[in-house]
Amino acid sequence: MVGRRSAAAACWALLAAGSAWAYEPAVNYQLQCMGCHHADGAGDEGRVPSLRQTLVRFSTFEEGRDFVLRVPGVAQSTLSDEQLAALLNWMLRNLSDVPRPAGLRDYTAEEIGRTHRQPLPAVRETRARLLAHVAAAQDPQ
Ligand code: HEC
Repeated sequence: MVGRRSAAAACWALLAAGSAWAYEPAVNYQLQCMGCHHADGAGDEGRVPSLRQTLVRFSTFEEGRDFVLRVPGVAQSTLSDEQLAALLNWMLRNLSDVPRPAGLRDYTAEEIGRTHRQPLPAVRETRARLLAHVAAAQDPQ
């Protein structure tokens, strides 16, 4: 535990020096998201869903992207739009079991700004609808 804490402190020191930009999304994930989503994004069955199957798939269509940007953990994060975009793009590449489809767009600060960081009122219902949409797109019988 001490090791992890001092590693995080070392990261922050580097960040403050402006020399560890490439590490920043991973550090922000650890500080702001990992407590619920776990280190590998697998979450907690029944409490926090795994991002490993959903994030890439939701990111392939507009309503899915809007959902990703408006779940409470994202919309209400203290990170800036720029930091959030970098974090989500890092998550797309590092916390997914789903191969990245060709042409998948990265998130941008501008796209995040357009949501006005407004949390969705009916997160669970929207998520269930989007999961059905994703399943239908994968198995169009
Ligand atoms: C307090 C626990 C908690 C924290 C902290 C948290 N999340 Fe979440 N996250 C959830 C839950 C629960 C859901 C499922 C939707 C819901 O019920 O709100 C979710 C859903 C998501 C989703 C949509 C994927 C899906 O399958 O629903 C993304 C993307 C996401 N979170 C990203 C983040 C990021 C990025 C952070 C850190 C900046 C973060 N979350 C912090 C609990 C959390």
